[in-house]
Amino acid sequence: MKPRRMLLAAACIALILPFAAPAQDETEKGLEKYRQMLKEDPWSNPGFLDADRGETLWMTPRGPKNVSLEACDLGKGPGRVDGAFAELPRYFADADRVMDVETRVLWCMATLQGFSREQLTTKPHPAGGQPVKEIGAIATFIASKSNGLAFAAPLGPKEKEMAALGEALFVRRSGPFDFACATCHAEEGRRIRLQGLPVLAQPEAARKVVGEWPGYRVSASHVMTMQHRLYDCYWQMRMPELEFGSEASVALVAYLVKQAQGGPISAPGLKR
Ligand code: HEC
Repeated sequence: MKPRRMLLAAACIALILPFAAPAQDETEKGLEKYRQMLKEDPWSNPGFLDADRGETLWMTPRGPKNVSLEACDLGKGPGRVDGAFAELPRYFADADRVMDVETRVLWCMATLQGFSREQLTTKPHPAGGQPVKEIGAIATFIASKSNGLAFAAPLGPKEKEMAALGEALFVRRSGPFDFACATCHAEEGRRIRLQGLPVLAQPEAARKVVGEWPGYRVSASHVMTMQHRLYDCYWQMRMPELEFGSEASVALVAYLVKQAQGGPISAPGLKR
């Protein structure tokens, strides 16, 4: 680089840096105001349309076996949705697995309704501007039926084991960038461009945000589920694709929910 250009570049950096922090404050203030306005009128959150769609999907006989999901046990008995999300992920003896809400809905749709698991897990997340897929809509409905409750997932041996696996994944560096979740989510003040990154390793911070998933993501104009969020974070790490409902995905959800234990559920939340 020519010396004059270098000087110019240095001047630009010098100009950008002092403005970066106030600009972030301004963006966050703006977003906060926007969220506040939507919260004051909860029905203006477009995510509730997906919760309604999810409820219809839950109640309608569908799939090769033409049954509804009302025989689906989310942990509180078949068809009981109220409060079920607050106690997920949990161990299900029928599947002999710990499952988060999305993995459980996938299991019920495959097992009870006869849908193809492969079809449901191929491209399970919507592209920008596209509505959340069926499992996500149903998960949004289920989560919304725990609004106002606090996370109280059971912590028996199987659930503890899963959360411990999630914690190991959270802190383990891997992939071509040598990133762990902790690289971005374990230190105060981290941000990417203008987005502050929540310190999910700290329960106080986790309690604030985990209960807002599934959430309506304003920048993508759709509801994004927790499985989708984690899929995207893994993509940012350039890791192999996070498989929907996989052991790793459930383990990470179990860890996050353990971090958020006692925190409030308000789903669908509103996200940037
Ligand atoms: C390269 C940095 C990076 C890494 C590594 C990363 N994330 Fe993220 N994460 C982000 C960004 C960026 C966002 C979105 C922030 C926004 O939109 O405001 C985010 C958002 C999240 C959220 C939602 C937070 C909220 O505000 O509600 C969760 C949960 C999350 N990440 C979990 C994880 C987990 C688990 C891992 C490891 C599998 C991980 N992240 C790895 C950058 C990262």
